[in-house]
Amino acid sequence: MTNRMWGGRFSSPPGEIMEEINVSIDFDRRLFAHDIAGSIAHAAMLAQCGIISRKDAGEIKRGLAQVQSEIADGAFTFSRALEDIHMNVEQRLREVIGDAAGRLHTGRSRNDQVATDFRLYIRECIDMLDGQLAALQTALADKAAAHAGTIMPGFTHLQSAQPVTFGHHCLAYVEMFARDRSRLADARRRMNESPLGAAALAGTSFAIDREATAKALGFAAPMRNSLDAVSDRDFVLETLAAGAIAALHISRLAEEIVYWMSAQFQFIQLSDQFTTGSSIMPQKRNPDAAELCRAKAGRVIGALNGLMLVMKGLPLAYSKDMQEDKQMTFDALDNLSLAIAAMAGMVKDLKANADQMREAAAKGFSTATDLADWLVRVLAMPFRDAHHVTGELVALAEAKGARLDELSLQEMRAVEPKITDDVFSVLSVEASVASRQSFGGTAPVNVEREAKRWLEILAAEKGNA
Ligand code: ARG
Repeated sequence: MTNRMWGGRFSSPPGEIMEEINVSIDFDRRLFAHDIAGSIAHAAMLAQCGIISRKDAGEIKRGLAQVQSEIADGAFTFSRALEDIHMNVEQRLREVIGDAAGRLHTGRSRNDQVATDFRLYIRECIDMLDGQLAALQTALADKAAAHAGTIMPGFTHLQSAQPVTFGHHCLAYVEMFARDRSRLADARRRMNESPLGAAALAGTSFAIDREATAKALGFAAPMRNSLDAVSDRDFVLETLAAGAIAALHISRLAEEIVYWMSAQFQFIQLSDQFTTGSSIMPQKRNPDAAELCRAKAGRVIGALNGLMLVMKGLPLAYSKDMQEDKQMTFDALDNLSLAIAAMAGMVKDLKANADQMREAAAKGFSTATDLADWLVRVLAMPFRDAHHVTGELVALAEAKGARLDELSLQEMRAVEPKITDDVFSVLSVEASVASRQSFGGTAPVNVEREAKRWLEILAAEKGNA
């Protein structure tokens, strides 16, 4: 026989190139535990519905448990001739329990099988990524609490804009990762329905109980349309999309770590743990981990695009094109997970140079907005006029090579006679950040409160998990 699974119609084995392009066991073996869980649920349901005997179902369960531990222990020999994980498991089951194995595939197909396996796998990935993102958030919120009052330059266009606190900057990322987690949770909720029992595409003539298998596998319900169940991979796309956005957030923080570490900025230091040296330049400490985190985004976004292009224009229902969904997804989610772990490690590791940050924050006339606001508040000037007056004062300071608070009252009055000594109370970076107490603002009191709030939320989540 050419092939035990479908040899009836075939008289010769596949050509070498056919096997090479067709085989998926080299990568889909990763789904073995999910495949076996699906099969155990399916066999138990078949027995419950009287479609196979309880004895056969018991044998199947026992045999599958053995196959599972053989694979987990590395004692299993995967066969490329058996194409994929589904047939490798079933073939081994036959060797272990004999003919009863042949009853397992009643009322199902590899099409609903692989859709089920992959959903179970992706669901697990989402749960893992969620936990990792929570750990990253905790690391950032810890830093925020420690640096609620550490002043750094806030940039727009990467030009000095207004002073902010380092803690506030860290909490910005905590918010981003919270939305990433919420997107993953949405994807999880939508994908948590069972394709199992949709069979090849049309459902089955056996009186199966899809509610039972859905429940056994932790799905909220069976999918309502058999064609949809076997032919969509939108659950992978959604997960990759949410993952791509998370990776993009990581890449932005990674980029900041890279320039913060440069000799020209010196805002932070990373230890030997997360840096490398140069083989020729003895002074070097390179932020390789941050650079790699920055690059991983490209890989995840690439996978999202790759899978969208594979799925585009596929007619219903299953097409073998869909076997190409796995490698890039595995690669993308593995690398996303690695990037999150490395980023959490770097955040914990990094030491902020508060003095250096503060000094940089005072450069670039960063309290000019505070000066303009003072003119509005105290002299009741319209903001547009205040903006103009402040612009003249900045030009004056720039010409003198001084900071705004180094101008004398007399020099200021030459530009605007009504200015009083009180103006100096708003020109320091400390005063500037302390005044930003509006909801969501950078004031140290706000940051302390927000960091505490996040740490409580994250600790409570952990307690509930
Ligand atoms: N290895 C296949 C995949 O990953 C399993 C489904 C194959 N189904 C089929 N009718 N050839 O998509």
